[in-house]
Amino acid sequence: MTNKMAKLILENSEIEMPIYSPSMGPDVIDISKLYTQAGVFTYDPGFTSTAACDSSITFIDGEKGELLHRGYPIEQLAEQSHYLEVCYLLLYGVLPTVLELDNFENLVTRHTMLHEQMMHFFRGFRRDAHPMAVMTGVVGAMSAFYHDSLEVNDPFQRQVASIRLIAKMPTIAAMAFKYNSGQPFMYPRNDLDYASNFLQMCFAVPAEDYQVNPILSRAMDRIFTLHADHEQNASTSTVRLASSSGANPFACIAAGIACLWGPAHGGANQACLEILKEIGSVERIPEFIARAKDKNDPFRLMGFGHRVYKNFDPRAQILKKSADEVLDLLGVQGNPALQVARELEKVALADPYFQEKKLFPNVDFYSGIILEAIGFPMSMFTPIFAVARTVGWVSQWKEMVGDPKLKIGRPRQLYIGEKKRAYLNIKDR
Ligand code: CMC
Repeated sequence: MTNKMAKLILENSEIEMPIYSPSMGPDVIDISKLYTQAGVFTYDPGFTSTAACDSSITFIDGEKGELLHRGYPIEQLAEQSHYLEVCYLLLYGVLPTVLELDNFENLVTRHTMLHEQMMHFFRGFRRDAHPMAVMTGVVGAMSAFYHDSLEVNDPFQRQVASIRLIAKMPTIAAMAFKYNSGQPFMYPRNDLDYASNFLQMCFAVPAEDYQVNPILSRAMDRIFTLHADHEQNASTSTVRLASSSGANPFACIAAGIACLWGPAHGGANQACLEILKEIGSVERIPEFIARAKDKNDPFRLMGFGHRVYKNFDPRAQILKKSADEVLDLLGVQGNPALQVARELEKVALADPYFQEKKLFPNVDFYSGIILEAIGFPMSMFTPIFAVARTVGWVSQWKEMVGDPKLKIGRPRQLYIGEKKRAYLNIKDR
């Protein structure tokens, strides 16, 4: 924080507002007193220039293509760490010691089972329901099952709710998958790590033993790690806004899942692979590039573009390499979607439209190819994103609830509706 000031000159007055300097990133102007001092609002639909909170969890430099969690670069975390260690880092701000990590892993592992009554809750859904619809409902319903971790003002209950959410989300996603395919639910296994256990719950059946393929487990863990948190994106801001009213953690995270589902956000991973398959072969790429550039066509190249990254998305670069490795290791040669993706990336990056608008592949561009190689249907891509992002939502929620400056979120508006008018009786209309 500094004592720099910004000056706003209005028609008849001059307002001074403090400027704060962050540890990294652009300065922010504190406009919170603007309405009381000058009677005007600021206007920023989509929050393109608005910092809505203080946070010390994740930092993104969109120009440099840099993503840091608690200061550590995502490339190093993806390469040298693993998902549960990153969860610890996001939640508590430091890398754990051997003992701390062991305790944390134990704690998460021992909270993975769901209340048995919740199994019946799944059966209320149609079998063909999208797993994101099921997850939104089931996670919201956790507040009806875990009454002893709803009190947001109690730090111990906050901690219990955080662990429950991180631990049970893979179980819920896997059950939504099993329910959809008509197979029996698989209980979690405590001898497996987080990613392997998720694969087991998705792909094992009670009729035979299931051996986790370490290549798939490593690829799964990396996907979780790369999606763990991403600063104040739409679903995280949704969680924060929901929680600003004091709503319970399960309700807030369910709101985040609902927001993530949209195709402009987490739903893009499913939409992107659908498009790669629709393109089908490299010969058809120019047709789809032309459609993406056509102002009269609502079509967009899913998996391209980002609100913050204007150079490259570091997560996409790691996933591109990972897609090559995983498909190679699995002996999947000449995957048509991967061939289309590689060529599409090349063509788009050389195209003036994409260069001018700074549109680059984002995290969703290559993740679907890896998830499909692991064996997931497209409808599971966004639920997997939700599993991974839970720790980000929970960390940001904990940070916010513990912030003494917490206020209910209440944006204002630029009203463009009718002026005050008198009610007309129905016979006079
Ligand atoms: N294909 C074609 N044109 C695009 C695309 C695209 N994927 N993305 C943006 N544009 C154009 C857009 O038409 C606009 O052009 P103009 O200035 O002529 O109106 C310009 O680029 C700026 O786009 P915008 O929608 O104003 O930018 P935004 O920052 O509001 O949106 C975005 C960012 C990610 C929603 C958008 O790029 C998009 O819809 N991408 C496709 C969906 C996608 O891949 N989403 C995943 C994002 S990363 C993971 C996550 O958040 O979950």
